[in-house]
Amino acid sequence: MSLRLSRVIGHRGVAASAPENTLTGFRLAAEAGFSWVEFDVMLGADEVPMLHHDERLGRTNDGHGRLCEQDAAALKRLDAGAWFAPAFAGERIPDLAEAISCCRALGLAMNVEIKPAAGHEIRTAEVVSETLNALCPDLVDRIVVSSFAPDCLEVAKEKAPDFHRGYLCETLAEGWRQAAENLGCVSVHPNHRALTEAAVAAIREAGFRTLTYTVNDPLRAATLIAWGVDAVITDEPSVAAALA
Ligand code: G3P
Ligand code: MG
Repeated sequence: MSLRLSRVIGHRGVAASAPENTLTGFRLAAEAGFSWVEFDVMLGADEVPMLHHDERLGRTNDGHGRLCEQDAAALKRLDAGAWFAPAFAGERIPDLAEAISCCRALGLAMNVEIKPAAGHEIRTAEVVSETLNALCPDLVDRIVVSSFAPDCLEVAKEKAPDFHRGYLCETLAEGWRQAAENLGCVSVHPNHRALTEAAVAAIREAGFRTLTYTVNDPLRAATLIAWGVDAVITDEPSVAAALA
């Protein structure tokens, strides 16, 4: 079943309007008109997949140390909202099952970015794959699994073959096409700063969709879409409004 994309994807929920990688972020993304969101998944010490971007706690919550060294119960006691604005105090770090359930209820499709702590690539991808297989067999056209770590995509290909994969990269480095093909990806997701009209054409001619991050200027988003980019990943509701 082919991927049903929209032209805009809310980054970490809708990161300009709400604390990133939170359920409130997903609710506000849906209210702002997004039909897709991207979020990051990392394993806690007890192998519960948690929504979190950084290896270390602290930037987006009141925790300390490495996320992969704390179990889910401790991680769920942290405040993941007050850092963003007082109105979000009490927001929690969701686990992947909670995120899926929330997105499902809101009708949001998901770009699940596997974001392993260093050295935890295989296990993180295994757990994400098992979770998607268990919870989302009916959503295969509404989920794309991406990662900067080829090992994660290799595991996802083996363990959750029904789900689409995206080749996430900073630039289109030598060998990108072969790598994305070998990993069975349907899409390539470079940083938008690395894209030119010719690069977008090359991705399309190679048979992949193009998703790009993090595009927070509506004019840049319109240019990228005019070049043939399939979807821009953005923090900004104004980008969703401009492309609606
Ligand atoms: O998946 C697109 C984007 O989220 C990749 O970068 O660092 O924001 O996870 P990052
Ligand atoms: Mg991400």
